[in-house]
Amino acid sequence: MAYYRALGDIPPKRHTQHRDAEGKLYYEELMGEEGFSSDSSLLYHRGVPSALVDSQIWELPDQTTTPNHPLKARHLRLHTLFVAGETADAVTGRRLVLGNSDVRISYVVTGEDPSAYYRNAIGDECVYVESGGGVVETIFGPLHYRSGDYVVIPRATTHRWVPNQSSRLYAIEANSHIAPPKRYLSRYGQLLEHAPYCERDLHGPTQLQEAGDETDVDVLVKHRVGGKVVGTRMRYATHPFDVVGWDGCLYPYTFNIDDFMPITGKIHQPPPVHQVFEGHNFVVCNFLPRKVDYHELSVPVPYYHSNVDSDEVMFYVGGDYEARKGSGINLGSISLHPGGYAHGPQPSAIEASLGAEFFDESAVMVDTFAPLELGEGGLAVEDEAYAWTWANRGPDGNGGPAVFSNS
Ligand SMILES: [Fe+2]
Repeated sequence: MAYYRALGDIPPKRHTQHRDAEGKLYYEELMGEEGFSSDSSLLYHRGVPSALVDSQIWELPDQTTTPNHPLKARHLRLHTLFVAGETADAVTGRRLVLGNSDVRISYVVTGEDPSAYYRNAIGDECVYVESGGGVVETIFGPLHYRSGDYVVIPRATTHRWVPNQSSRLYAIEANSHIAPPKRYLSRYGQLLEHAPYCERDLHGPTQLQEAGDETDVDVLVKHRVGGKVVGTRMRYATHPFDVVGWDGCLYPYTFNIDDFMPITGKIHQPPPVHQVFEGHNFVVCNFLPRKVDYHELSVPVPYYHSNVDSDEVMFYVGGDYEARKGSGINLGSISLHPGGYAHGPQPSAIEASLGAEFFDESAVMVDTFAPLELGEGGLAVEDEAYAWTWANRGPDGNGGPAVFSNS
């Protein structure tokens, strides 16, 4: 994060003696990105933050991916991934939907049990809360979350999810950092006037995380061995949430989709105006309820577009998505429109959109600059007829779409 925050008990000068009321020294930890060359924070612990007492393999759920080959558009119905009433741990229960070497997208429906303590040592996580609510407890302090929040958690931040109701979480896990697009920022990192949100909309911790005197605490760590995503269960002598104060520019925060102010135009505005965040080789955008194009001959739904350099993943989270009418896409659907293939509205949606003044639609988009592959969760809920819905004629050749695998 670009701007500075401080919480709790910190000494006036960094890297100097800092003691509790009994005179015992606190243990200072610098958590910093890109070596010592980017954003960082200093945290003061009651216990030694590196006091490891055990390390064991944590077997991750299935992380294998299947190439999008033969190439086609895909429709994945996420709301059928967990049957009614089925819930799972917010961390260990995630099911991989799509992924490549830059980013992995997974989905989970939680109950109300707290997740395991966890940190992702591969990259930042941006978890979109499709519905639900609760708290993410972190070493920087608690973050309250609600429907429509992006919860942005920097790489290596120890945390756990504590839902107070069943929560649908769409986890975007990067192999890099996730931040506002550089073009939204001043040379010193302030969000500029043309950005569709500002610092007031980003909510970091406002109090410290309470931690008991628990010892021998297990933390699940996601990391890499070669190119493979693996896990380790690390056991610590003291509780990782024993922080008495911290300050700096690196910390988790939430941003609610309702605080994004859509930019609209006389004619159709391209997806970059809807961008929220960027990571290495991918971007996150959101399409939200908004007034639409006001030229007298405007066509409010998008033109057909060939994303020469990217795969486009739309997650439909609210309203009624105009451009996808007639395709089987509904709330909870994902569409994957791969690079190397032009896509656009279902033909009937173009005429139907003429004269529209307002679109009531919400979708979260991830565009990746390397091809995505399908995870086991994605394959399990694919609607195999989607690719043929523009032609209204599938490989069976007789006018109707091909077989629906999950209907
Ligand atoms: Fe598109």
